[in-house]
Amino acid sequence: MSLAVEAFAKVNLSLVVLGRRDDGFHELDTLFQTIDLSDRLVLSEAEGLTLEVDDPAVPADGRNLVLRAAEALREEARISRGAAITLRKGIPAGGGLGGGSSDAAAALVGLRALWGLDVGLATLERIGTALGSDVPFFLHGGTARGTGRGERIEPLPDAPSRGVVLLLPPFGVSTAEVFGRLGAPRLTASGAVSNLSNPGPERFPDRNDLEPAAEAQAPELRRLRMLLQDAGALRARLSGSGSTVFGLFPDVETARAAADRIMSAGPGARVRVAATLGRDEFRARTAPRGAEPGEGRS
Ligand code: C5P
Repeated sequence: MSLAVEAFAKVNLSLVVLGRRDDGFHELDTLFQTIDLSDRLVLSEAEGLTLEVDDPAVPADGRNLVLRAAEALREEARISRGAAITLRKGIPAGGGLGGGSSDAAAALVGLRALWGLDVGLATLERIGTALGSDVPFFLHGGTARGTGRGERIEPLPDAPSRGVVLLLPPFGVSTAEVFGRLGAPRLTASGAVSNLSNPGPERFPDRNDLEPAAEAQAPELRRLRMLLQDAGALRARLSGSGSTVFGLFPDVETARAAADRIMSAGPGARVRVAATLGRDEFRARTAPRGAEPGEGRS
């Protein structure tokens, strides 16, 4: 049997750093949003656990979160089943779009189905948290608030649907270095964006506190953000720690027109157009389904 699972990207519509914690991580209050740019995993029954990736820039060994997710799920379920996994990348790696984390979440959901495991969402969230701060979000999708390291997820009502222009510079930025440059004060108890539970997406500020540090590391990022602003973006921000810069537009058509104008100016970055993806559509499109004949390994 072979199953296919779609793994979507995210942007951070808002990202507030509340302070540096004693464990070295930063306490965040962030607003995640899935967009319809995706990777595709095909999972086939097999003796051993293997991974093939079509993007040479992405490691296919034990550093890949997909293999680490598979191993963690096997351990949790105390089984020794195998899977031949192929990963087709559509999400640029190392760009703050959550591609690796989304792949890990898709692997958890897909392998649970392939192996017929009786494992609940709370367990997948626990496994995901150990893999990376962004993984639990991709078990929910849509619009959601992330607190703690970003791993504590509160699903929120969908933010209004928008067209998205992504500017992908030919370089990445180091997440650890961006956080390291912040010089954020130690965490104090106060400062959360909202103390209400389930605040609407509109309560989150148009702000990414990682932007100044990322733009200090790569000044080019500020120029890209200004390009989006000048093209009429409703909001133009760095996603996560970058290096992707995104602009929100009223709809996909407007986003496409802005992307064309930006492209003709020779922006020095790859340009992609996407749409925000609400939770219902995310759920429907990430449900594991039978793979097309010839997809993955048989
Ligand atoms: O969670 P992830 O592996 O992406 O984190 C990479 C690095 O970014 C961490 O080692 C840490 O230095 C920094 N980080 C942080 N606070 C967070 C998330 C990441 O300081 N909430």
